[in-house]
Amino acid sequence: MSEISVIEHIHSMQHRWSPQATGQFTSLMHDLVLSAKIISRSVAKAGLVDILGGTGDVNIQGEAVQKLDEFANDVMIYRMIKSGAICALGSEEAEDPIFVPKETAGNYIIFFDPLDGSSNIDVNVSIGTIFSIYRVTEGEYFNQDDLLRRGSEQVAAGYFLYGPSTMMVYSTGHGVHAFTLDPSVGEFLLSHPDLTIPDAGKYYSANLGNYSKWNDNDKKAMDIFNNDDNYSLRYVGSLVADFHRTLIYGGLFAYPADNKNKDGKLRLVYEAAPLAFLIEQAGGQAFDGDGMRILDKAPKHLHARTAFLFGSKAEVAKYRAAFK
Ligand code: AHG
Ligand code: MN
Ligand code: MN
Repeated sequence: MSEISVIEHIHSMQHRWSPQATGQFTSLMHDLVLSAKIISRSVAKAGLVDILGGTGDVNIQGEAVQKLDEFANDVMIYRMIKSGAICALGSEEAEDPIFVPKETAGNYIIFFDPLDGSSNIDVNVSIGTIFSIYRVTEGEYFNQDDLLRRGSEQVAAGYFLYGPSTMMVYSTGHGVHAFTLDPSVGEFLLSHPDLTIPDAGKYYSANLGNYSKWNDNDKKAMDIFNNDDNYSLRYVGSLVADFHRTLIYGGLFAYPADNKNKDGKLRLVYEAAPLAFLIEQAGGQAFDGDGMRILDKAPKHLHARTAFLFGSKAEVAKYRAAFK
């Protein structure tokens, strides 16, 4: 099998890109991949060095910050700015977006969740990094007010999954492609070209511990799966891990809004929108709690939250039918 690295794959796809694709995107992806290799190395050693446990700080989300979150965030911010490809970035771990000075700014905006699944860090369960990339008009230094855009405007999105193997899954709007890190080579090599989600699956995924807090429609919809022996429940609690299983095996994931998180818990800009881009590219669907397509939602602010439902067309249709 010919070994194709991420950068080689991007170059091979570049001809399908709009003509203005520049080397900046390759530089951005190179530094993104390097960030993930550095984070992956620390995730693998987390049990050995004093990087476990919280820093005692609390982030904008009001959640205890794990040392790995902070480390991953620092690596991503440093590398993204160093790439010379971005004019702005937004991170789950930073209250405000960061704008690059005009003289060194590039043509891309990146949003990321540097370490997804923080509650699983200390128990050695798969965690990940999620990224979402937009392009600004060449040569025009965009004004900071139009930082946030609909997910449908993404030019690329993806995630890294730090599991039994470290993987990268991404799309530039021309299908979904997955790479597996070969530590002996130090490269992510193409392992799953043109990934598509099965039209139907046998797994559904939700935190049923919140069931009593859901609205009646979400309870009715989830009961379709709770009461159907053809479905098994799988819930890791790391969105990237639950997403990746749903992408490969098919089925459904739902994190509904509830009476505690009235707008939902998951974040629109750097969790739901990039994953919705991927699932649609793979032939699946992604909606919020009102049946609105995630990619059509205009974020009101960087840390906006949303209810998030995605998966195979068959299971998403079954879930949404309960809302009719
Ligand atoms: P993060 O660690 O980036 O804050 O994300 C955690 C998210 C997501 O990974 C997962 O789907 C969800 O939180 C799990 O929430 P519950 O623990 O409430 O089920
Ligand atoms: Mn997350
Ligand atoms: Mn996170």
